[in-house]
Formats: sequence, structure tokens, C-alpha cells
Amino acid sequence: MLLDIVLHPDERLRVHCTPVTEMNDKLDQLLSHMFDTMYDAEGVGLASTQVGENQRFCVVDVSEDRSKPLVLINPEIIDHKNTITWKEGCLSIPEVSAEIVRPKNILVRALDRDFKPIEFEADELLSVCIQHEIDHLDGKLFIDYLSPLKRRRLMDKYAKQQKAQTP
Ligand code: NI
Repeated sequence: MLLDIVLHPDERLRVHCTPVTEMNDKLDQLLSHMFDTMYDAEGVGLASTQVGENQRFCVVDVSEDRSKPLVLINPEIIDHKNTITWKEGCLSIPEVSAEIVRPKNILVRALDRDFKPIEFEADELLSVCIQHEIDHLDGKLFIDYLSPLKRRRLMDKYAKQQKAQTP
């Protein structure tokens, strides 16, 4: 099932999410719907706030053939090193992208879909994507990293575009 993706500047994208305390059928089903929605939109990650939820979980798949679904519940970055510049976009801010500097290598701790603890290293796109999704869980968007001038320029363009698409 496809879910509606919450679009910037909706305030629901600014919610600071609370930890998930238990896995249940409702959350499991929601995760399936989030994968459907992310794949349909050709995204590499989708966080709870983007579908109007306010707990800490997201889905990710950065593989070319969409074969490596990753569920992260209560994800945390416990270590990082080096930096990388990546041109980021977001399903909640369609057709906008910008280069963002972030840590390149990260050590991630989370719970998986079975609510079992996992810990793994990530770099390149996977690292960028996980950091971007965790930001969503803290109510933060990638445009927040831009200078005020750059952000205003991009958001003016975005607003015009959104207006043009509203019937
Ligand atoms: Ni995003």
C-alpha cells in the first residue's frame, strides 16, 4: 500500500520523535507500507515523520536492484570519522538537491524489524542516507545545513514549483 508522503514545509516534518518501545503487528505493517512507498517514489530512505508518524524508525535501501531492505528502529550513530560531500535530495522536498558535508564513516546501533539489537559500519551513500534519516527523526531536514542565502534561493524555487503543481 502506498502512503502519502508529507511535504515540506509541513510542520509534521519538524517533530522530534520518541523511541519505539515495542514491536507489534501495526508497526510491522506500517514498515511494509513504507518500503512500498519508498520504492514507488524511487527513494533510498524514508523516515517515520515523512508519513506522519512520530516514533523513531525508518526504512532504507541504497542497493541498485532494490534488494537490501534495511529497517532501523531507534537508530543511533555511536562513532564517526572522515567527511564526505554528497548531493542530497529528499522525498519530502521533491526536485530539490544540494551538496551537504557529513561524516563519511559511521558506526550505527539500532534495533531491527524483530526488535533485535544490531550494530554495523556504513560509508558512502549508506552512511549519508542513514544520517539523513536520523535527522528526520529529530525534525531536521538537509536544507537546514545550507547557508540562509542558499536555502532561500532553493526554497523560492521549490515554492514556485509546488504552486505550479497545485491544481
Ligand atoms: Ni529525506
